[in-house]
Amino acid sequence: MPRKVTVTEVGPRDGFQIEHDFIPTATKIALINQLVDAGLPIIEFSSFVSPRAVPQLVDAAEVLAKLDRSRGTKFAALVPNAKGAERAAGAGVDEIRVFVSASETHNQKNVNRSIEKSLAGFEEVMRIANQTGIPVEGAIATAFGCPFEGEVPVEQVGAIAARFRDLGMRGVSLGDTTGMATPPLVVERCRHLKERVSELPIALHFHNTRGIGLVNVMAGLAEGIDVYEASFAGLGGCPFAAGATGNICTEDLVYMLHEMGIETGIDLDKLCAAARHVEKVLGRSLPGQVMKAGPRLRLHSPDEVATAAG
Ligand code: COA
Ligand code: ZN
Repeated sequence: MPRKVTVTEVGPRDGFQIEHDFIPTATKIALINQLVDAGLPIIEFSSFVSPRAVPQLVDAAEVLAKLDRSRGTKFAALVPNAKGAERAAGAGVDEIRVFVSASETHNQKNVNRSIEKSLAGFEEVMRIANQTGIPVEGAIATAFGCPFEGEVPVEQVGAIAARFRDLGMRGVSLGDTTGMATPPLVVERCRHLKERVSELPIALHFHNTRGIGLVNVMAGLAEGIDVYEASFAGLGGCPFAAGATGNICTEDLVYMLHEMGIETGIDLDKLCAAARHVEKVLGRSLPGQVMKAGPRLRLHSPDEVATAAG
């Protein structure tokens, strides 16, 4: 098991993209800066995609301009094509994340092109990123199964990761877009990648759609994986995948890791405050558990509840 884990916050991208109502730019900035203050080392703050496809994130550049860079937090953005890379580089992102699905149908739904065309387009993204010295990571959506096609062969995931490596990307993230991952699949996919693209660090991105997101993290930890993506309060979901729901909750993940003696460098109290803040902003109850219950040793006065007298 790793002794230290990097937790990447993706709520401002994976979460805000699926919200029905546009979250005002100033509110996004305040929430993300709260995450910075909680010590999140990397935040996927938005994406540079077509505003027609995802109007909720049209303000990516304005958001980045007002984020707190005093703590050295890395601000990453999702980018689907060269136009997105140019916009991201112009805005001054610290990292670019390209994305492609392991299943043709989801890629077509998500970015309106074939997998091969997405991959071919990443060459131009790499040229733009290399000119400006921005590191690029590759994300593989539907890496554990596709809501339209079903099983996704592990070799397909490995083949895309190998293309990422050949393009000069710095890491690969396996995205469980609609929560189809299970512990055996996590083990299988991690081992396959460690064998096939051993030089490429692996990150895992789980959605809790079927309630076993943190169980999948346990499977990943046992495989030595030390980078996990999560959304504060359990926000998240892809608008172009049927039945998508939230990511694993960052604060629940951090709580579990700390209880296991695994360091993250994150302040859990501050993170829970950010999660409660976004719940208030959105005006509905969100899935996060630890933000509601507190850590296990948050004690209560016996006066808080009645005594059961017969
Ligand atoms: N940023 C802003 N605008 C973009 C863009 C980008 N990265 N990429 C394309 N566009 C614009 C083009 O300039 C063009 O605008 P115009 O009609 O005013 O000339 C328009 O979008 C269509 O461009 P085209 O290249 O034909 O794209 P498309 O219609 O085939 O859509 C994507 C492809 C990738 C741009 C679109 O599907 C997309 O943004 N998908 C992202 C989905 C997503 O974020 N999913 C959630 C993450 S998992
Ligand atoms: Zn996701």
